[in-house]
This record gives sequence, C-alpha cells and structure tokens, in this order.
Amino acid sequence: MSFGKVAVLMGGKSAEREISLLSGNGVLAALQKKGVDAHGFDPAARDLFELKRQGFERCFIALHGRGGEDGSLQGALELLGIPYTGSGVLGSALAIDKLRSKLVWQASGVPTPAHEAIGAASDLPAVARRLGLPLVVKPVNEGSSIGITIVRQAADLEEAYALAVNYDRVVMAEKFIEGPEYTASILNDAALPLIRIEAPQGNYDYQNKYFTDDTKYICPCGLPAPKEAQLAALCLKAFSVLGCSGWGRIDLMLDAKGDPWLLEVNTSPGMTSHSLVPMAARADGISYEDLCVRVLESAHVG
Ligand SMILES: Nc1ncnc2c1ncn2[C@@H]1O[C@H](COP(=O)(O)OP(=O)(O)O)[C@@H](O)[C@H]1O
Ligand SMILES: [Mg+2]
Repeated sequence: MSFGKVAVLMGGKSAEREISLLSGNGVLAALQKKGVDAHGFDPAARDLFELKRQGFERCFIALHGRGGEDGSLQGALELLGIPYTGSGVLGSALAIDKLRSKLVWQASGVPTPAHEAIGAASDLPAVARRLGLPLVVKPVNEGSSIGITIVRQAADLEEAYALAVNYDRVVMAEKFIEGPEYTASILNDAALPLIRIEAPQGNYDYQNKYFTDDTKYICPCGLPAPKEAQLAALCLKAFSVLGCSGWGRIDLMLDAKGDPWLLEVNTSPGMTSHSLVPMAARADGISYEDLCVRVLESAHVG
C-alpha cells in the first residue's frame, strides 16, 4: 500500500509531550524502515496548515493528551481533508474526558467504578463517606497518572484535590478497586491479547509507568481464555459506545470477585518500543514495524 507523504505528529504542548516525542520517534523510524515516506511534525513548533502546503497525504497521530488526543486536532485534520489515524472528533473528545466517558458507560451498562465530580465547594468528608475509602482523586482530562492520588484517609482528600486541580478545572473522586490491573489493546477494531500490569505496591504512577524497571507486564495475562474473551468483548463494546474507532487502549481492573471495572480509554496510546500496545501486538505475532503500518493503513477522514 502506498501512503504518499506521511506526517508523524509528535510533541505538542500537553503535559505528555516528552512521552509523545518518544512514541513519535519510534513510529517515524519504523515507518521509514518499512519504506514509507514519513516525516516528523511537531504541532507545537509548526502551523498545522503547513501539512497541506507541504503536500502531506496522511497523518499518524502520536500526540498524547490535550491538543492531540482530545478531538481538536482531529477536527482540524477533518477540515483540512487529511486522513489521520485513530478515533474521530467525537470518540477522541469523549474518551479524554474520564467523567463523561463514565457517564456514557453507566448508561450503556459498562461497569466503571462509582465516582463523583468534586470542586472547591464540595464537602469532601461526605464524598468519602458516600464512595468509601480508599478512593482515587484524578483530574478528568489528564494522562500518564499525572495529578492522581490514592487517598486512604479523609484528611488527605483536600491535598489530593489541590494537586489534581492544578491540571484540570474538573476533578473527580472514584471508588478504589482493589485487585489486579489489565490493559486491553485494540487494533483495527479487534482486541489484542490482554496485558496484566503489576506495579510495585500496586502503585502504577508516572514513575512506575515510564522510569523504573519495577513494573511487571505479563502477556499473555494468565486469565482463562473464556474470561479473557469476555473482557475483550466488554472492552470493544466500551470502545464503540464512546464513538472510538481504529486503535486504542482500555485500562481496567478486576475486583476481589473477579468482576471487571473499566477506568478509561486512551485513543492515542503510547507507542514507544516499551509501550503496551506494541507489547500486545508482539504477543499476537505483529512486529512493532508492522503495527505502525497497520495503524497507518486505518487512517481516515470522516
Ligand atoms: N478506581 C481506581 N482504583 C484503583 N486504581 C486506580 C483507579 N483509578 C486509577 N487507578 C490507578 O491509577 C492509574 C492511572 O489511572 P487512569 O484512570 O488510567 O488515568 P491515566 O490517564 O493517568 O492513565 C491506573 O493505571 C491505576 O493503576
Ligand atoms: Mg490509564
């Protein structure tokens, strides 16, 4: 398949800029190795209209977070008429908003932990009584575990809120799920093998996501095949009810009874050589380079 001149969009202005540069440079090298006429493009440094002026025919979006994963870039590319990878405007915008994702899931029967939006005027001890402790406080529109605190006593809620609100006007408290964590990768609207994530003390924070070697990633994940198939089907449903398409990744947990609770969808997941979607693809016999090409093949407008 000939793709023409391809821009790998990376960098950007979000808090996840550094990770995006790692993802984008990995994708760029892989596509070039596959003979694609691919070029890096940082929207923080260059005007998007240059994509058109310089004759780019497709975009691989390797941006994470705001301005790249939230529907705004997708809308701009729609208007420019340049096909791009991943979810469209609606799916991207809904998925980056963890609160509204959960509202759609609740309405569709997709299990997601109980939550409340919290603000400066909230009665935080009352929130803790309603949801129970521990609970997780997170900014609604952030990624990479940035601004997230696991709160074990009500007295710590105020500080957790103060941290999260640095990143987003909207903050939520969510019931803490005690149990193993998994992530489901989706490629061309089908699920890849689940990965089980074992972070030290169950603390899958920014440090343990990217910088330590202490987090274990287990794939195949060890669940019985029928259970894995059931979770994969649930994740595909959760992905499609949000209007997401193409590729992405869903974070979920199992509780003590083994029941699933979905946390969030990432519509432009990490694509470093150590990232999770490449790991799941590898378990399915798909190399990193082939994964990049398959994602690029699915680029679309509208
Ligand atoms: N409700 C929860 N119960 C237990 N752990 C959670 C919960 N929410 C988040 N976490 C932990 O925090 C991590 C980051 O949360 P997530 O909602 O996936 O946001 P991010 O966009 O930062 O990845 C998760 O991978 C998980 O380890
Ligand atoms: Mg996550």
